[in-house]
Amino acid sequence: MKKFTTLAAGLLFAGAAVATDCTDCHEPIDLTMHTESEATLATCNDCHGMGDAHAPDPEIHTPELTIKECSDCHGMN
Ligand code: HEC
Ligand code: HEC
Ligand code: HEC
Repeated sequence: MKKFTTLAAGLLFAGAAVATDCTDCHEPIDLTMHTESEATLATCNDCHGMGDAHAPDPEIHTPELTIKECSDCHGMN
């Protein structure tokens, strides 16, 4: 399994401007559908195997973040 390098510690203060667009690698995320299913970081792995590929830095990524909040920093659609 390929491991992705995070530079999160160094980038923390740079904030939203440096957050990766998910759509660089993924299909656009249907935010309406994900909002209706009340997706938060705590529930992504109920439906996806996100933890196998990604380990978002817990300092910025708290479990109650909603998909809408994710998309404030990351290009998702
Ligand atoms: C305050 C801005 C912010 C919010 C909100 C945010 N992120 Fe991030 N995220 C970052 C930054 C900065 C990084 C580190 C740089 C990068 O890899 O994009 C990061 C990295 C990531 C990574 C790559 C980590 C890896 O190991 O591959 C994933 C996946 C990710 N975030 C998912 C999410 C998800 C899912 C949400 C919503 C639950 C979310 N982010 C909300 C700023 C944010
Ligand atoms: C550099 C390319 C890359 C970027 C950018 C990226 N991912 Fe991924 N992601 C992958 C790979 C590779 C996998 C593992 C293979 C797969 O399941 O598609 C994966 C897997 C996932 C999965 C599990 C897939 C599933 O259906 O079970 C989720 C969810 C996910 N990523 C969310 C995100 C989010 C949210 C972001 C933006 C914050 C993001 N990814 C950015 C490459 C990337
Ligand atoms: C109730 C189940 C459910 C939850 C919870 C959920 N998703 Fe999804 N997600 C789906 C479905 C269904 C699709 C569309 C089918 C597909 O592409 O897997 C999808 C699609 C995606 C895709 C695009 C698919 C790809 O691999 O390119 C990403 C990225 C993604 N979701 C990220 C997330 C993130 C991040 C979270 C947590 C904040 C989350 N999802 C929570 C069900 C869910």
